[in-house]
Amino acid sequence: PLSGRVKSLIAQMTIEEKAGQLTLMPTPWTSAAAAKINPEAALRNVENLTDDAQAGRLGGVFNGFGVEAHRKLQTAAMKGRLGIPMIFAGDVIHGYRTVFPVPLGEAASFDPDLAERTARAAAEEMAATGFDWVFAPMVDIGRDARWGRTVEGAGEDVLLSSDMARARTRGFQGRSLADDASVAACMKHFVAYGAAESGLDYNTADISERTLREVYLPPFQAAVDAGCATVMAAFEDIAGRPIHGGREFLTDILRGEMGFDGLVVGDYNGDVEIAARGLAADARDAARIAIMAGLDLSMASGIYRDHLPSLVQAGEVPMERVDEAVGRVLALKERLGLFEDPFRRMDLKRQKARMRTKPALSLAREAAQRSIVMLKNDGDLLPLPRKGKRIAIIGPFAEGPSNLHGPWTLFADNKEAVDLASAVRSAVSDASFISVVKGSEVTVPIDGGIDAAVAAARSADIVILAVGEREAMSGEAASRDLIVVPAPQQALAEAVAAVGKPMIVALRNGRALALEGAILNAPAILVTWFLGSEMGNAVADILFGATGPSGRLPVSFPISAGQVPYYYAHRRPGRPANARYITSRYDARFPFGHGLTYGEISYADLAMSSKQIPKDGSLRVTVTIKNEGKYAARELVQLYVQDVVASVTQPVRELKAYKHVDLPPKRSQQVTFDLAAADLAFLGVDLKPVVETGKFKLWVAPSAEAAGLAEEFEVS
Ligand code: IFM
Repeated sequence: PLSGRVKSLIAQMTIEEKAGQLTLMPTPWTSAAAAKINPEAALRNVENLTDDAQAGRLGGVFNGFGVEAHRKLQTAAMKGRLGIPMIFAGDVIHGYRTVFPVPLGEAASFDPDLAERTARAAAEEMAATGFDWVFAPMVDIGRDARWGRTVEGAGEDVLLSSDMARARTRGFQGRSLADDASVAACMKHFVAYGAAESGLDYNTADISERTLREVYLPPFQAAVDAGCATVMAAFEDIAGRPIHGGREFLTDILRGEMGFDGLVVGDYNGDVEIAARGLAADARDAARIAIMAGLDLSMASGIYRDHLPSLVQAGEVPMERVDEAVGRVLALKERLGLFEDPFRRMDLKRQKARMRTKPALSLAREAAQRSIVMLKNDGDLLPLPRKGKRIAIIGPFAEGPSNLHGPWTLFADNKEAVDLASAVRSAVSDASFISVVKGSEVTVPIDGGIDAAVAAARSADIVILAVGEREAMSGEAASRDLIVVPAPQQALAEAVAAVGKPMIVALRNGRALALEGAILNAPAILVTWFLGSEMGNAVADILFGATGPSGRLPVSFPISAGQVPYYYAHRRPGRPANARYITSRYDARFPFGHGLTYGEISYADLAMSSKQIPKDGSLRVTVTIKNEGKYAARELVQLYVQDVVASVTQPVRELKAYKHVDLPPKRSQQVTFDLAAADLAFLGVDLKPVVETGKFKLWVAPSAEAAGLAEEFEVS
């Protein structure tokens, strides 16, 4: 129910003011970059918006920079006829000035508590600069590695993505939205954006209702259940129905079924683009369709401001629907405490004090360490000794301020991030033992050409090869047709490997990759994503064993790029032995959940409380994990099931639970899982959840495709 204040404001507003309230505009994209060099320019950039703010033609803006710019706009808005505060939103996807790992990397921690803490820290920084609202968490399942935006989500799995969605929502919103260190969260992009054909942004998705409900909706439901205040519509259409104009999605499913009662915002021009898709005749028609579908707030296009007044006057859009949308915008502003104090998140002192604090940077390092996944470590090449070895760090990502933060870090300064070479130099006892051959990542991968790299490798005892994707290769409008390491870098890897020195590949990447040749065959491979402010330090921590690797892949790395989309929880084929390619198996090279530690881990003594459980019962599963090695290890124990006979073909395996166990050397620990029969539900033939009786297989394993320990039980 709306408050008296909101009701009274709506009663006083003209239709033009209402249409203005439903309009969200970008500040010029350059403002953040410009502000780093020239704050005056950033302020000038918002100048043009102040007139609109004062005249009630704007509900809010996004991606502005800093307290001063935000204050200027808010002051103008408060001088308006009704004195309605603006809302300020920002794309702070994985940190503001302190940058945390890209969400896909952070998902490798399999640690929702960590994700909640980094979201909280990001909220604290952004809220200190005048932001009230974050366009995150991105909760789209990413099963097609070509899609550049897989980097923004938690990967391919429904359970992990749902846990991360819940955690990030909680972190951003804190205990109360009115807290000056909290921001409203925005789950996005509703819905199934990750299913867009060919892994292309703005494209069409053609998925079954079953897949929509079983795979793509649950992370959104998790965020709704965590109280997520807002949602952003996705750019794609599903089976011919663009989300921005699809009432069945934005109203019937989202509100009717999922119980969402917050604000629905469009994506950038996504509403007017339904005309480009052919769902609407023109911009006016697009505005009518979008608002009637349930899109409350229009982003960037301005079509609500331009056309809602005439649509209402012509009786094509009822005033009640406009009032409903305005009510949601005002209610959000009220929850954020903006009516009490429109400047509550705009305090210059706080802006200074809350940036890159010690605790935030140490959290960034912890999160970065925990995001690193060790794919291989043949012959225990890692960890490296801190002295006595000449180390050559070679590759486009060896040194320098770029490609550390990752995409969507509009407000951070590259120069503040720690690169690999400087971190390695400070980790070893004699920095003169370190040589660095760096270069551009685009065409020629190395300064001085491959000869320089080969010479450096020859004079070293150990090579660290820093190759992969540059940050602009993932994120929005950054899909790739082939998910491999770019050819010039592959050639570099072949030449350096041919020298024959022990080689550690430190991969930089925003998606799953199909690794080949010398990179795949290197004795040690670390997946280091884009880890943010503390990237170099975290990688060095793992390289030299200050801490052990504990990350696990949140996406499957396929054998070859042609397998994409590949995900572990695919349905069971009729001929498992023949469902393969002529040239390769239909498996992952490095499966979901895979990641090695410095320990020597073994699994033993899998036991179940019962082999028979009723439909309303539950099962206790125990297993003993041992570390027989000489280093401490943090093992992620994963529980998968398969419903053996069901009325709908089921996945080969599905993750049902996971737990970390910290094991000092030569120690073992029992791990317990409680699995409820309700966790085994799927959508039956009628698309209603059902737990069917019969046999189930269960695995406790170190990855989705590892044999691990297996058992069977029955639901009766
Ligand atoms: O928040 C983003 C969205 O994820 C993609 N399009 C632009 C929006 C605002 O910057």
